[in-house]
Amino acid sequence: MKGLILSGGKGTRLYPLTYTRAKQLIPVANKPVLVRVIEAIRDAGIDEIGIVIGDTGPEIREAIGDGGQWGVRVTYIPQDAPLGLAHAVKISRDFLGDDRFVMFLGDNVIQGGIADLIAQFGDSRWNCQIVLTPVAEPQHYGVAELDADERIVRLVEKPREPRSDLALVGIYMFDHHVHDACAAIRPSWRGELEITDAIQWLVENGYAVHPYIHRGWWIDTGKPIDMLDANDHVLEELTPHVAGFVDRDSQVDGRVTIEPEAEVINSVIRGPAIVGRRTRIVNSYIGPFTSIYHDVVVEDSEIEHSIVLEHSSIRGIPQRIADSLIGRNVKLSRSPIKPSAHKLTLGDYSDVGLL
Ligand code: DAU
Repeated sequence: MKGLILSGGKGTRLYPLTYTRAKQLIPVANKPVLVRVIEAIRDAGIDEIGIVIGDTGPEIREAIGDGGQWGVRVTYIPQDAPLGLAHAVKISRDFLGDDRFVMFLGDNVIQGGIADLIAQFGDSRWNCQIVLTPVAEPQHYGVAELDADERIVRLVEKPREPRSDLALVGIYMFDHHVHDACAAIRPSWRGELEITDAIQWLVENGYAVHPYIHRGWWIDTGKPIDMLDANDHVLEELTPHVAGFVDRDSQVDGRVTIEPEAEVINSVIRGPAIVGRRTRIVNSYIGPFTSIYHDVVVEDSEIEHSIVLEHSSIRGIPQRIADSLIGRNVKLSRSPIKPSAHKLTLGDYSDVGLL
């Protein structure tokens, strides 16, 4: 079996974090979502992976390279424009050949990996397996309607009036018949070749499409609030380890990971939390559900339930920072210069809540 990861698209909903960066490279618990996807596919026993890339392709190539670091072989498949998930399958035809494959959206994070799903599909005679999970707002997803025997009746992409709460999770397994389906369908109202329509075509043409109902958590990291949610879940499941330096005046509990070359001085860190490489935490409090990426400084400040990206600094902020996403190279400090006021240089689409 092969793996196909979709990492094209634009990710505008994650502005400003993705203004200069592919959304799939934003870290959750200090590891880019795309790397988590590669590892999930590898852990299911697949080592040949195609990655569909768009505008942010150069950055993705630089981060992932040939995949050797993760024990996989990566082939890049450039897509001129984000014309839909089924379009991405179409342009991957040479890479896929007639092999069975798993397609994984590069911005999805799922509990428990996919090894069991892949094994189940590998042993079966199904032409396709889809993963469904109940969600609160199905209108934002592809939605499946099942009959009393859990057979698929219909699949609709982002329906205004959903007929069930079962959303299509961004993980799909196919055999070569999907190529006939992708060739047969037409663009949807949003101008995309929808994979949901291709699967509906398989159902209508008598192919075996098996719905697997996922009961754990699953997050499509499409919006900032989803990033924090995904971070909470992944931190909770992380096996903690302390590789960096923690001085005697600090308190670090058992659910905290301190990555190599990090330093924690006279600070309190309550897990689950992670502190990245070469990051310094000095006279500060880091509360639960916080990920501080590499090369960050937090000094004389308090922060919890937040993500801080690389090369940022937070110094002397008296009020606790919470529920925040802080991008790269951000400087947050107390200003001694009069008049005493909030002095802000914020990127486009920033979202700030002051006391
Ligand atoms: O996350 C699950 C949902 O993903 C499903 O419930 C929907 O049925 C499915 O259509 C998809 O919906 P989204 O609207 O959330 O997909 P999005 O445009 O965010 O793209 C998902 C990933 O695929 C993202 O990493 C970008 C990449 N992509 C997207 C398109 C449209 C490509 O690589 N090429 C593309 O042409």
